[in-house]
Amino acid sequence: MWIREQDGLRLDADAPDDLKDPDTSGWDTISVPGHWQLSGYGAPAYTNVVYPFPLEPPYVPTDNPTGDYVRTVVIPADWDGVRVVLRFEGVDSRFTVHVNGELIGWSSGSRLPSEFDLTNLVAPGKEARIAVRVHQWSAGSYVEDQDMWWLSGIFREVNLLALKSNAPTDVFVHASYADGTGTLKVDADGAGTVVVPELDLEFATGDEVTATVEPWSAESPRLYDAVLRTDGGDVRLRIGFRTVAIADGVLTVNGNRVLFNGVNRHEFHPGRGRALTEQDMLDDVLLMKRAGINAVRTSHYPPHPHFLSLCDEYGLYVIDECDLETHGFGYEPEPPKLPNPVMDPRFRDDLVSRMERTVHRDKNHPSIIIWSLGNECGMGENLKAMYDLAKEIDPSRPVHYERDTEAEFVDIYSRMYTDPAGCAEIGADPQLYRNLPFILCEYGHAMGNGPGGLLDYREVFDKYPRCQGGFIWEWIDHGIRTTIDGREVYAYGGDFGETIHDGNFVCDGLLFPDRTPSPGMLEYVKVIEPLRIVADGNGGVSITNRYEVLDTSHLTFTYVVEVEGERIDAGHLPVPVAAPGETVTVELPAVDASKPETWVTVTASLTSPTSWADAGHRIAWGQIRVDSSTEVAPVAGGVPADGVAGVHGISVAGVANSRLDVWRAPIDNDTNPGVADAWREEGLHRVQHRIVSQGERDGAWEVVTRTAPPQLQWGLVSTWRWTSVDGGVVLDLSVVPEGLFPQVLPRLGITFELPKVQRVEWFGTGPNEAYVDTREAAAVGKYSATVAELQTPYVRPQENGHRIDTRWVTLDGLRIEAVDTLFGLTVRDWTTHDLETAKHAADLTPGDTTYVTLDIAQTGVGTAACGPALPDRDKHKTAPAQLSLRFTTA
Ligand code: GAL
Ligand code: MG
Repeated sequence: MWIREQDGLRLDADAPDDLKDPDTSGWDTISVPGHWQLSGYGAPAYTNVVYPFPLEPPYVPTDNPTGDYVRTVVIPADWDGVRVVLRFEGVDSRFTVHVNGELIGWSSGSRLPSEFDLTNLVAPGKEARIAVRVHQWSAGSYVEDQDMWWLSGIFREVNLLALKSNAPTDVFVHASYADGTGTLKVDADGAGTVVVPELDLEFATGDEVTATVEPWSAESPRLYDAVLRTDGGDVRLRIGFRTVAIADGVLTVNGNRVLFNGVNRHEFHPGRGRALTEQDMLDDVLLMKRAGINAVRTSHYPPHPHFLSLCDEYGLYVIDECDLETHGFGYEPEPPKLPNPVMDPRFRDDLVSRMERTVHRDKNHPSIIIWSLGNECGMGENLKAMYDLAKEIDPSRPVHYERDTEAEFVDIYSRMYTDPAGCAEIGADPQLYRNLPFILCEYGHAMGNGPGGLLDYREVFDKYPRCQGGFIWEWIDHGIRTTIDGREVYAYGGDFGETIHDGNFVCDGLLFPDRTPSPGMLEYVKVIEPLRIVADGNGGVSITNRYEVLDTSHLTFTYVVEVEGERIDAGHLPVPVAAPGETVTVELPAVDASKPETWVTVTASLTSPTSWADAGHRIAWGQIRVDSSTEVAPVAGGVPADGVAGVHGISVAGVANSRLDVWRAPIDNDTNPGVADAWREEGLHRVQHRIVSQGERDGAWEVVTRTAPPQLQWGLVSTWRWTSVDGGVVLDLSVVPEGLFPQVLPRLGITFELPKVQRVEWFGTGPNEAYVDTREAAAVGKYSATVAELQTPYVRPQENGHRIDTRWVTLDGLRIEAVDTLFGLTVRDWTTHDLETAKHAADLTPGDTTYVTLDIAQTGVGTAACGPALPDRDKHKTAPAQLSLRFTTA
């Protein structure tokens, strides 16, 4: 393929009238599928809600980036008497097609297929010159306002198909399941015979047959290979028998209640944009399956069809969403706003046909159990027309649309970002919303550090049958790999010089752009794991099977006993098979519980390999503390040694510049809801310190400090008592707020500096970062890492890397132990200010100093960037507080 002009894109206004016979000498070669903005022509641009062009539907600016593609192919000599069809799987956003100089048509609907019949235009053995002109902006852009990069071009495959003249063009498999029996009917627009060898079935199209079958479900995705034989050729089918039903407010598949442990998936690759390879799609599916994710909402357009085939094969429930969003129009129908395309009669046919193209392209995928009309368009009669059409073509699947907020016509009630209490209200009241099954089509906004509080949702989903789970927003950060100032970064809105953009809102996934899991992903895996392994309250372990259809016979259970992080025993744990929904309790091996910090970890893993993971892959785990002490192991602390020599002030083993710390580099969940601004108004980002007094007192070196912001009338008075003990010192810190102090602190702790630290070992939670509301995936244990490994590289730098409930840490030669309350540990090679002002992870470079923060407490992370405010429970409320630490030489 070729793209005109070496130095960029032509604009529509300059374009010659047609593509009859362009002289392509001097044109560049471009890879198809691909986006021209990622191939050196023009630049990506990111907006979330707003349109980057004037709202004047259906018109778009005359300066319309345009790419011309030309390719000459030879029609195979044996394509005699066949129908030749040119099929595009996805072109963004509108295109015209010319064959041998003749304009043959145009299409739009970026994530939908288009076909052109070339039969009368080409001849076997002859060349055909195919020219395609693609415009970035079109009327279609008004209904494709999804929260993602604006990226153009032929980004999915183009195929030339040879079909017999009477080949079937529409085949519809109806395969349902009940009580061991599958019912099968195949409709086609050309009569034929359906053969299912494995079931010994052979029957005519249009006939209904039954057979004893195994059902298809996400957990057990049984497919049967079949073929439809017609005079016009064979069509290969993969059949999954399953029935989707709604009764008493509950959606079931094959009679089983589904709990959606889902994600919203955009198609994204940091180098290829939405032009994914089959390997990229497989990577996504394998990552989801290994994570225990069982459902995908294809936000907010039909994905590449291969992805759906993978969902059929590996087992993922799919909400297949039409290519539609008009968010920038707002939701209100009243003037002075322009009519939203969903209520504008001029858009009706286009929208209905988008739905029709979605359903027809994808209806034979058993993985799709719900259709969705689109996202964030408000309400309008065109949506109802889309709904009616979907039901007319396919009455077997429920239809979803979140902005039908009063459940006027949808089959499933859906919300986004409702807090757990709001979900519980819906769960508890069948009068609400026609008692439809209720899902969160988006929740747990995974932007930057977070999402926190996922456990609260799980409790609601477990309690109310009608609350059937949800879909995390979203699967992957859309950071585009590029170089800024010589450093490789993941770019976000604004990095390509866009004047209108929404910054790093495009980076809000569970995966980093390179598909490595963020801590949020690990947290989600733990929260949704299919077994609950907890103490049974009786010295044993209770294991609850939360699978939909699987029992636990495919799992192997093992245990490990550790004392203060040192393994003292391990082995196989015999566990009786638990059916779905069943709980079994098992005795733990005899453990000497006399030693503090004795923990038993029980793990369930795959006994044999599956199509998506190796044998031994961890499916679920739980940790049980078996010693009777609930507090930290006591260390000798606070006992004054003789004199206080050597502990003058705060110079202990290289520790420099100790001060009280109340600030964190705001995370996205602090910044977007304005919490960080409120904190700044309270001066929390710029406190100053004053030594009020210091001297020997009651056998300790006592320093009193006052920490306060400029101008404002509050402060924190801290008493630092340093006591010499055998081999080191103990710090007893107490902090008392005074004046008109802020109610909530981002953090309360101490920060000090050390000469650059190489290795950090700690006993506490790990291995990954954990905050008060993101600590499900953290296990108590002994860990070791470099300072670099302790950092989480959020695309836009922000607070990260905190390990809650640390018992002790060694920083090269320095050991710090909690004396009676646990502390939060953060170690970095840059300051909080550096972290706060960096724009990309690569901006942060280590110097000679390591900064250590030991928190009494830190406010949780929540999901407020796009979701409910952080619950009070997870805020650190200002109050008198204490911390005792013992510093020794390691
Ligand atoms: C939702 C929307 C998503 C995404 C998200 C914010 O309102 O449906 O597409 O924009 O907010 O990240
Ligand atoms: Mg939107």
